[in-house]
Amino acid sequence: MTEIVLDGAGRFTVQAFDTLAQAEQAVLRAIETALSDAIAERGHALWIGAGGGTPKPVYEQLDTLDLAWDKVTLSQVDERFVPLDDASSNTKMMAEAAAPVIAKGMRFLSLIQDISHPVICSEKAETMLRNLSEDAPVFDLNLLGMGGDRHYASIFPGHPINEEVYDSPALVLAVAPSETGGEPKLPRITLTVPALNRSRRIVLYITGQAKLDALAAAIADPDPWTSPIGAFLSQYPGPVDIIWGA
Ligand code: 6PG
Repeated sequence: MTEIVLDGAGRFTVQAFDTLAQAEQAVLRAIETALSDAIAERGHALWIGAGGGTPKPVYEQLDTLDLAWDKVTLSQVDERFVPLDDASSNTKMMAEAAAPVIAKGMRFLSLIQDISHPVICSEKAETMLRNLSEDAPVFDLNLLGMGGDRHYASIFPGHPINEEVYDSPALVLAVAPSETGGEPKLPRITLTVPALNRSRRIVLYITGQAKLDALAAAIADPDPWTSPIGAFLSQYPGPVDIIWGA
């Protein structure tokens, strides 16, 4: 593993691995540490995970970790507003990939709590998350991804969501499809920045040179309209582990 420093202050240092297998093992170690510490300190671990293709092999290997899965709850960073059996559903992907540890007792809470309308769904997802604790949950770990366009969660460059997602009193918002033919093509459900900031730790897992270059550029120019991931990381108050696989 080598370290790549993305910013002058050294706050954003990438743990860079030569292979995806090595990077996946690093992500799995970070998950095991964060969740086992949470269980030891509070008797339970609550984490949120990104969708998309990058984290899928990590979810598929969760069963290799030595954890009390019946003390773990997983929810989502964001989700496509589609039926749970839809091929583009993150819920479907995560439930299938993590099936062995769900069978061992891990609770998996999809953001798709209602498929009638995105706003109704976001409101029900908000209620679900708030019911996990006295008011707003704290996530012991946030396994975050990003797109090559510098988006994260369902917060895309140039999208009007950027006008409300940073200061919203809500934990969860509906995101309309792009009106200019860009991303997202599907309606989305996303956690807001105040919700994502309630993460004790973030692991940002990315792969490929294009995303590494995009992340470096986003950190150098953290404008929310052009570099959502850069804007988010620049204001996030906690520790960030950036893991990259070539
Ligand atoms: C989604 C994800 C999204 C993802 C990035 C990267 O629903 O697509 O939550 O934010 O993290 O789009 O996706 P890949 O890992 O497939 O490149």
